[in-house]
Amino acid sequence: MNIMAIVLAAGQGKRMKSKLYKVLHPVCGKPMVGHVVDTLHRIQTSRIIVVVGHGAEAVQAYLGDRAEYALQQPQLGTGHAVLQAKDLLANEDGITLVLYGDTPLVKEETLRRMMELHRQTGAAATILTAMLDEPFGYGRVIRNEAGGVARIVEQKDCTEEEAQVKETNTGTYCFSNRRLFEALSQVTNNNAQQEYYLTDVIGIFVAQGEKVQAYCTDDVTESTGVNDRVALSEAEQQLRARINRNHMLNGVTIIDPANTYIEADVQIGPDTVLLPGTILRGTTTIGENCKIGPQTEITDSTVRDDVTIRQSVLLEATVDEHASVGPFAYLRPGAKLGQHVKVGDFVEIKNATLDEGTKVSHLSYVGDAVVGKNVNIGCGAITVNYDGFNKNLTEIGDDAFIGSNVNLIAPVKVGSGAYVVAGSTITYNVEANDLAIARERQTNKAGYADKIRNRMKAAKDRK
Ligand code: UD1
Ligand code: CA
Repeated sequence: MNIMAIVLAAGQGKRMKSKLYKVLHPVCGKPMVGHVVDTLHRIQTSRIIVVVGHGAEAVQAYLGDRAEYALQQPQLGTGHAVLQAKDLLANEDGITLVLYGDTPLVKEETLRRMMELHRQTGAAATILTAMLDEPFGYGRVIRNEAGGVARIVEQKDCTEEEAQVKETNTGTYCFSNRRLFEALSQVTNNNAQQEYYLTDVIGIFVAQGEKVQAYCTDDVTESTGVNDRVALSEAEQQLRARINRNHMLNGVTIIDPANTYIEADVQIGPDTVLLPGTILRGTTTIGENCKIGPQTEITDSTVRDDVTIRQSVLLEATVDEHASVGPFAYLRPGAKLGQHVKVGDFVEIKNATLDEGTKVSHLSYVGDAVVGKNVNIGCGAITVNYDGFNKNLTEIGDDAFIGSNVNLIAPVKVGSGAYVVAGSTITYNVEANDLAIARERQTNKAGYADKIRNRMKAAKDRK
């Protein structure tokens, strides 16, 4: 069966009161139209046409080659929008799904079931509907005496009686492709908004004696259409709950789902525990049996199995098995921690590889560095990687010991097994197994403490 899809994304979204085009507003980290197109990609569609208009360039730049595009200019309604795909699709046989770019929670399984019903009944159109306690704002599905679908009426065109109807049009449909475009040519704009409504094709089919089916979803969240920021926050909550639930069903423990924020494309292995305040974003992958949080934000990072991360921020970082991070660590882009690495409190790592077993336990900055295995970097030791013009590299060999408060002025190398004495400022390479000491030798002046106190007291009294 040839399945095609049209996604409507040309509207401006005035009610969002935003410079950002409506369908690009993110829900759980992903633009709404991205959710819709990704869901369609999970079905075997031969073509996906996104109708663009307002913000066409931005929408196309975001979706790239995940879709084909049809331009709608000006925007005269949803029926007019679908017509813009006619040149691309009119000669195809098969079925066409139509989805709205502002309805991000429609599920793949639902689309499959809807198409199944459509096929079995030989309908010209199948509408995805939902029973809403508060249907205000949505188009209503009006049924005839026999219970069949008669037509869809928009909120603004509803009579009082029609406004009582709780069955709403979710804006997701399945059509026989050829009949869709035939019927669309008959749609007029004779209505409250003077727009060409896609929903009018339903009444047209019925008038022609064609079969129209409704598939009513039992998950009302699928119907959430986002027209303003209130609906945006509802969609966010609904999708967040759905994402969290799926992870829990897949073996992830979430201590406080109401305070755990996981974006749509994040993957998490079983037996991992997420503590309150955990935020997992973007393309982040978390392995099995990890303990993450509380209060931890991880973006576009890879965390492998058996890792502990507490109260920390990670961005484009990689953390290997059995490593531990935090509390209060900051792993910036290019931070790569090997197995059993320990990065402790108030440590920042950027563009640096720390090989297996290395420890940076407290108060350090390690940037632009390649650090070998089982290195100990003492409290307060830092790489001095930036001279105001260039970022320079620090290399530290296996088993080296970097004492507390050492400055490693890059570019510089410390050989394997070398020992850098606490408080040293290292400007030259240290060979393997050498000891480096680079600090002022200490002088003690016997009994001098009282002398200096007296001198300072006298100076103060003179004022
Ligand atoms: C629409 C439906 C309504 C349904 C609701 C579900 C129509 C006439 N009404 O109403 O029955 O209950 O969705 O959420 O279809 N768009 C274009 N070009 C246009 C107009 C709209 O591409 O000329 C796009 C918008 O970007 C949006 C989608 O179509 O993604 C829906 O348009 P919108 O104006 O939000 O329709 P609703 O009033 O929500
Ligand atoms: Ca809408």
